[in-house]
Amino acid sequence: MKGIVLAGGTGTRLHPITKAISKQTVPIYDKPMIYYPLSVLMLADIKEILIISTPRDIETFRTLLEDGKQIGVSISYTIQDQPLGIAEAFIIAQQFIGHDTVALVLGDNIFYGYELDVILQEASQRKSGATIFGCMVEHPEDFGVVEFDTKFNVISIEEKPKVPKSHFAVPGLYFYDNEVVEIAKNITPSPRGELEITSVNNEYLRRGKLKVELFPKRVVWMDTGTYKALLKASNFVEKVQTTQGIYIGCLEEVAYKKGYITKEQLRGLAGTLLSTEYGTHLMQLVMGDNNGKF
Ligand code: TTP
Repeated sequence: MKGIVLAGGTGTRLHPITKAISKQTVPIYDKPMIYYPLSVLMLADIKEILIISTPRDIETFRTLLEDGKQIGVSISYTIQDQPLGIAEAFIIAQQFIGHDTVALVLGDNIFYGYELDVILQEASQRKSGATIFGCMVEHPEDFGVVEFDTKFNVISIEEKPKVPKSHFAVPGLYFYDNEVVEIAKNITPSPRGELEITSVNNEYLRRGKLKVELFPKRVVWMDTGTYKALLKASNFVEKVQTTQGIYIGCLEEVAYKKGYITKEQLRGLAGTLLSTEYGTHLMQLVMGDNNGKF
């Protein structure tokens, strides 16, 4: 399975922070935002990754993450000229996807929770259809919202409905078979002029091939597109890391625990970061002092 991190957009809700820099490079506590969604793809066992961003920002990501070899994955880069919608990613990435299945994660979404990796790996191993998730939220009207019948079958997904029919929002993490490319090419832009991911999901639903998996309560999902959400996410990450010693979005740790890099490589990466708690954490992993926590 291939993986895409969609890290373009305009980030207008974070202006002036994002007037001159990419939203997905803004820090969430101790690391750039994009580390979190990237780590999610790695937890799903995806090693071939494409980052899509704006013509202005793409080189920043290349500088930050290079070709991925240092963390045992392959990262390539391409641009989206204008933010014409999330589903456009599959058209832009057609060559990269080839005949494979593909996962897409939004560059400003954070996921965390016990055994999240199990959920992700199950989704990434499915060869046919689409898997998306449902997450209980207070304000579903800001997202795609899942509508269920009385037997909890999915009837439709509505994009940012004024009157949501449930409290289950669809987070920015989607797993598809190869048909997604053709589907994305054939959907029509919404009234706001975007190729909506919700249109893609509704097409899978129409074909009887959409699986909506509800996240268990132990899984936390955060969209970080506003000032308050940004601060909340930073506070959350700081608290989990400081009180539990469990790091979220730590690419080097995921790479090491997946066996993508050796202990010596991890030592090398840690060595460049020793003036930080992040580097100290990596060095503790090298020394085997992590109490087996992920
Ligand atoms: P949004 O948060 O919907 O849009 P935005 O990032 O441009 O922010 P704002 O609404 O404040 O202007 O986008 C969700 C994610 O998807 C985010 O990581 C940006 C990315 N995205 C693209 O890369 N290209 C697109 O065409 C769209 C619509 C979003």
